This record gives sequence, C-alpha cells and structure tokens, in this order.
Amino acid sequence: MSKIIAVSSFKGGTAKTSTALHVGAALALFHKKKVLLIDFDAQANLTTGLGYDPDRQDSLAPVLQGKKKIQDVIVKTGVKNLHLLPADTWLERIEVTGVLAADRYSHERLKALLKTLSYEIILIDTPPSLCWLTESALIAAEHSLICATPEFYSVKGLQRLSHFMKNIAERHPFSIVGVALSFWNERGKSNQAFLEVIEETFPERLFQSKIRRDIRISEASVFGKPVFKTAPKSRAAHDYLSLTKEVLARIYTQVDSRIGFGPRPSPGVVLS
Ligand SMILES: Nc1ncnc2c1ncn2[C@@H]1O[C@H](COP(=O)(O)OP(=O)(O)O)[C@@H](O)[C@H]1O
Ligand SMILES: [Mg+2]
Repeated sequence: MSKIIAVSSFKGGTAKTSTALHVGAALALFHKKKVLLIDFDAQANLTTGLGYDPDRQDSLAPVLQGKKKIQDVIVKTGVKNLHLLPADTWLERIEVTGVLAADRYSHERLKALLKTLSYEIILIDTPPSLCWLTESALIAAEHSLICATPEFYSVKGLQRLSHFMKNIAERHPFSIVGVALSFWNERGKSNQAFLEVIEETFPERLFQSKIRRDIRISEASVFGKPVFKTAPKSRAAHDYLSLTKEVLARIYTQVDSRIGFGPRPSPGVVLS
C-alpha cells in the first residue's frame, strides 16, 4: 500500500508545489523510494516545474470522469523512480462536469483510484483553496503535509485549515505529518509569535527543518528540474534534504491517525 500525503494550505505562495516537488524528488533520488507526484491544481505549476507542457498532457480529469485509465496518464520525469500525474485546466470545477456532477460521493473517487497503484509514496499537490480538489486529496490521503510561510495571514490561515481538516478527518481519518515553513528568515522579528501560533494549532507538528529563501528554487523550475539537479550545493537542496528525512521518519512511525490536531476552538472563537 502506498503512503499517500496531501500537501496543503489555504493559500497560494506557501511553497506547496515546490515542497511536493522537492520532497518527492529527494525521496526518489536519495532514499530510493518509488514516488508518484500528483498535480491536482488546475494551474499545473508542478507539471511545468517538471518540464511538461500541461496543454500536451492528460490529467486526472478524464480519469475521474471514467474516460481514461489512471496508469495511462502517468508520465516519467528526469528523476529516476519519480513519476508524475500531470494537471491541466480541465481540473477546474471538474466536480460540476460530466458524471461527477451527479455523483454525491464524487470526492471519494480519487481515493479509490489511488488504491489501484503501486508506489511507495504518493504526494498530492493541491490548489490554494479548500475546494473539491483539496477535499478529495485529503480524503485520499493518510497524511497531510501543511505548508506555511512566516507571515501573519499565512499563520492565521492555519486555524481555518485545522478546522476544515478536523471535519474531514472525522469521516476519513488522516494525520498531520507536519508543518513546513518556507521563506524562513532566521532573524525575522515575529518568528517567536508565528511559532507559538503554529504550536497551538498543530501541536508538536512543526518540522525542525525550515526552508530558507533561495532564488535557486524558481530558477530550477525554469529548467523543469529539482534543485538537486540544477544546484545540488544550494541552501534549498540542503534544506529540502533535511526536511525529507523528517517526513520519512514521521510517516513510517506515526500510528495515531488523529495526531496533530490542536484542541477544538471553543464556540464563538473567530477562525479568521
Ligand atoms: N524557499 C523559497 N525561496 C525562494 N522562492 C521560493 C521558495 N519556495 C518557493 N519559491 C517560489 O515562490 C513561488 C511560489 O511557490 P510555490 O511552490 O508555487 O507555492 P504554492 O504552490 O503554495 O502556490 C514560486 O515562484 C517558487 O518558485
Ligand atoms: Mg502550487
């Protein structure tokens, strides 16, 4: 059975796509894992970031509509053992299209489809909102990797994300593998305050490894490759390697599927 991890946050620009790509690539390159990356965002940045043109590839859209087999839309990448299930704009509002529109349980289709695959680890990159795609990814996953940046709105958004996740986890249990902070600045004045909010929202889930700001990350996406190939000695390569080790340690030891959620907010607490 594959370990399935949904990479999520409430917002754009929290490095979800970069994190999915680099943790996936590090698992394949340095830990010899057989990995599938799923681009489940119509913006298709993960697909582009691995050198594919979303307009020329099929995505999960025809698979979810029952028109194609999942195995037939998976492609290889420049990294050995790292496969990609690309995205395209057909994923946008797919839940109101075709056979999905009439299916009350459409958001459980992804979970069923992924059970037919044999990868050690599957990482799902999700859109920057709590839409049907994100919900489907969380239902399919047994773990969620949360991405955040050390900014006020990003950290506050985690409380809403936690609330949304708790609701899904009540019916489809999954655990929080951890919270990954990107664009980290050691000297940030509000760091302590951010870390406290994260600790309160997802107790003991913050990863030790932080991803510092590094232009090599966006440069690598222009080449369609991970930084391990384009800038192996960069800060980004170092930080993602270290994060990947922590992710691995947690997904192979974590047993309590409800771990990671903070206390329920008391009635009247404003979650925004
Ligand atoms: N640690 C980092 N340092 C510098 N730029 C980064 C870093 N992480 C991501 N980026 C860049 O920031 C932008 C947003 O990152 P992305 O991974 O696409 O976020 P999301 O998927 O959450 O919207 C991209 O252009 C990406 O290349
Ligand atoms: Mg993205």
